[in-house]
This record gives sequence, structure tokens and C-alpha cells, in this order.
Amino acid sequence: MKSDIKLIDKEGKRLDGRKRDELRPIKIEVGPLYRADGSCYIEWGGNKILAAVYGPREALPRHIQHPLRAVVNARYNMASFSVEDRKRPGPDRRSTEISKVISEALEYVILTEQFPRAMIDINIEVLDAEAGTRCAGLTAAAVALADAGIPMRDIPVACAAGKIDGQVVLDLGKEEDNFGEADLPVAIAPRTDEIILLQMDGHLTVKEFDEAIELAIKGAHVVSELQKKALLAKYAVAKEVKQ
Ligand code: CDP
Repeated sequence: MKSDIKLIDKEGKRLDGRKRDELRPIKIEVGPLYRADGSCYIEWGGNKILAAVYGPREALPRHIQHPLRAVVNARYNMASFSVEDRKRPGPDRRSTEISKVISEALEYVILTEQFPRAMIDINIEVLDAEAGTRCAGLTAAAVALADAGIPMRDIPVACAAGKIDGQVVLDLGKEEDNFGEADLPVAIAPRTDEIILLQMDGHLTVKEFDEAIELAIKGAHVVSELQKKALLAKYAVAKEVKQ
């Protein structure tokens, strides 16, 4: 969407003072939920999101079972108080779409063939939303899966890049998402840089698209380090206590 709002000033700073290739502040906590098999709480800029994983457990009802592998069900939900205009509770087109793309991305890295007839449930609850919730939600879900001890080929991670005021920038905030020209959420398996989720809202030239993907992947690698640090912080302490 074109607008008259200036999103980048003369010094190249964005509305919140960030540089073009700078992420919003990110905080990741592993295992805040007692009952879930694995969980994660993430704060990413103004986003506050909880992810809870249950499973692998017997897939029920039985007709959803796959004889050779586990079924992965991610469910993305926005709390009604997470956005300014109260969101009507329950699934809508947007949350169904986000649940689908996140399920498919995570299914790609989980070793589902180790758990025939099982299901793995991943609940992503957005408590506070400030753009980029699918990336933050997938990133939290990946940490929750690792916390649940679910075998994966890699710990997936996501980050978006986009275009504002004619420039390709990393990790759009709320105004940038509303008034910018494009948003490109990307999720990768960071060990191989395989792209496991790629969506685009808005318009980019081929050159800008390449630049945005490269920037998003770079950002995802920074977030990946934070995921690993958070997991180590929990399990390094657990190991110390055990000794
Ligand atoms: O959150 P994400 O960028 O992955 O998805 P989006 O569909 O591009 O939504 C961008 C932002 O719009 C969300 O993060 C929310 O802050 C906001 N939004 C809203 O205010 N009300 C909704 N019903 C849905 C989204």
C-alpha cells in the first residue's frame, strides 16, 4: 500500500530507530508451561506469543492416523485482546492459512516416520500482536518442539524482510507492515538454508525479491542463535542440577 507516511528518515533510520538490517529485540524463554510436553514463550518486538507442544501421542480420531508417519497439527490462534480492534474468537481464513503453512514447514523437519499413527499438536497463541506473528510463532513452535524432545533434522527458524519507502529492510514492525510496499516472511532449516516457508504480500522486483530473501535468511540465522542460546540456558542448568 502506498502512503505519504515517511517510514525511513534522512539518516536512514526507521520509525523505531532501527537500521535497515536490524531486528527488533527478541527474548526467548524455554519451557514456561508445566503441562505441555514442550513449550516456549517469545517476545519479538511488540509480539508476545506462547507455543505449546503435545505429543507424539496416539492420533485420534483414528481416521486421521497415517500408517507410516506422525501427523503434525499446528494451530495458530490470536487472542481476541491481541490486536487493537477486538478479534472475534475462533478460527478465520487468516489463522487457518497460517496454521497450514506452519504445519507444513514444521512437518518437513520433524522425523515423522519415527512415529507412525501418532500426532504432534503444536498450539501457537498470540497474546499481543505487532506484525510478523507467523515468523515469531513458527520460531517459538520450533523451540517448543525441541523442548518436547521431538526429533528433528534441524531447528527451524523464521524471519521476514520487506520493502518500505522503496528500500528492502529486515523484520517489519506494525506501521511498516501497514504502510510499506511488501512483506516477505521466510522460514528456513538453518543448517542447510532450505526454505520451508515463503510467502509474499505486496510487490517486489526480481532484484528486490532476491535481496529480501537474502536479508531474511541472514536475520533468521541471528534468531537461530537466540533459539539455541535459550535451549542451552534451560538444559545446561538442568544438567548442572543432575550432577
Ligand atoms: O502477523 P503476520 O505479519 O505474520 O501476519 P499479517 O496477516 O501480515 O498481519 C500483520 C499484523 O496485522 C499482525 O501481526 C497484527 O499486528 C495485525 N492484525 C490485526 O491487527 N488484526 C487482525 N485481525 C490480524 C492482524
